Amino acid sequence: MLSKSLSDIFAIGKKETIGLDIGSSSIKLVQLKEGKKGYSLAKMGMVPLPHEAIVDGSIIDASSVVQAIRDLIKDQKVKARNVASSISGHSVIIKRINLPVMSEEELSDSIQWEAEQYIPFNIEEVNIDFQIIGADPEGKGQMEVLLVACKKEVVDDYVNVIREAGLNPVVLDIDAFTLENMFEINYPLPKEENIALVNIGASVTNINILSEGITSFTRDVAVGGNRLTEEIQKAFHLNFDDAERLKKGGEVEGVEKEEVKAVLEKAVDLIASEVKRTIDFFLAQASGEYVAKIYLSGGSSKLDGVLESILEKTGIATERLNPFNSIEYNKKRFAPSHVAEMAPFMAVAVGLALRRAGDK
Ligand SMILES: Nc1ncnc2c1ncn2[C@@H]1O[C@H](COP(=O)(O)OP(=O)(O)OP(=O)(O)O)[C@@H](O)[C@H]1O
Ligand SMILES: [Mg+2]
Repeated sequence: MLSKSLSDIFAIGKKETIGLDIGSSSIKLVQLKEGKKGYSLAKMGMVPLPHEAIVDGSIIDASSVVQAIRDLIKDQKVKARNVASSISGHSVIIKRINLPVMSEEELSDSIQWEAEQYIPFNIEEVNIDFQIIGADPEGKGQMEVLLVACKKEVVDDYVNVIREAGLNPVVLDIDAFTLENMFEINYPLPKEENIALVNIGASVTNINILSEGITSFTRDVAVGGNRLTEEIQKAFHLNFDDAERLKKGGEVEGVEKEEVKAVLEKAVDLIASEVKRTIDFFLAQASGEYVAKIYLSGGSSKLDGVLESILEKTGIATERLNPFNSIEYNKKRFAPSHVAEMAPFMAVAVGLALRRAGDK
């Protein structure tokens, strides 16, 4: 008895998991507390990364990433050590495939072999995971399976930076999937309806279409806020930092705001077109379906005109999402204006903070 209660006392953080979203422009941290009435915010923070420390989902400058994680943990006085993190981009392949009906154990044994034809990488170089979705509505004796494959070297790089920062990686998720968990606790489930979660980051836009609240289609599109910054760099011959500042509404000597606006509008249009293309692709596969609403998150959802452009292009009701919609917080510890400011960046981190050690 005594030893159990002692171990409970000393094992602070044993079950507590931090959500750590290692994005290409910054690292975001969220820790939640689960109470009787729901979740409350325990920790939240964000720290920028040097430009190009992470490129195309691969960690290039590991020591900067490790240092940034350490700073974030220290600044936020985080005690928990278990970390749920996630990856995205072109080293992740997510496919819905049809296979003959078999049990989970049988599929575990044969997945490596079954997956080979769907994966454009050497099968020896990837980690494979799967989820049986259910019977294929069209094919007799077939079932639908969600196949997820990640390049081992990318997984290892993320696990290694987390370990080097003195933390214990317990869950490695996929950015687009984390949005489902985040949405589920924050918004009522729209029954028999498809909705699209669109997370516009710096280098990637993660799109997740939920059908009755469950992920039914995901895609990472390789455009995000960086594209706008690059367009500004090109148009006005600026370095990355000056172009970022202009993009966020700041000033740079010798550059007219109106000219910047014109460049931004074109790039925003491109992001909106990519969102539309992805939704059209989903709809083409799912006959008779429609998407009832688009929810936007990610730092680049702050861009002027992005919501309007997506709404106009797709004709689908679009709103900004709040990942803290149903999460309580102490207003003395977290200023509401600060939480509102951070909200667009925190969608993935909230989804990760909901994961538990021992989750698959
Ligand atoms: N006020 C703002 N207006 C326009 N863009 C902004 C604003 N604030 C941040 N951004 C942009 O948001 C992006 C960062 O968003 P986010 O933190 O979601 O990306 P990330 O997770 O680091 O990147 P990724 O997931 O693509 O690797 C950057 O491109 C940044 O320039
Ligand atoms: Mg991100």
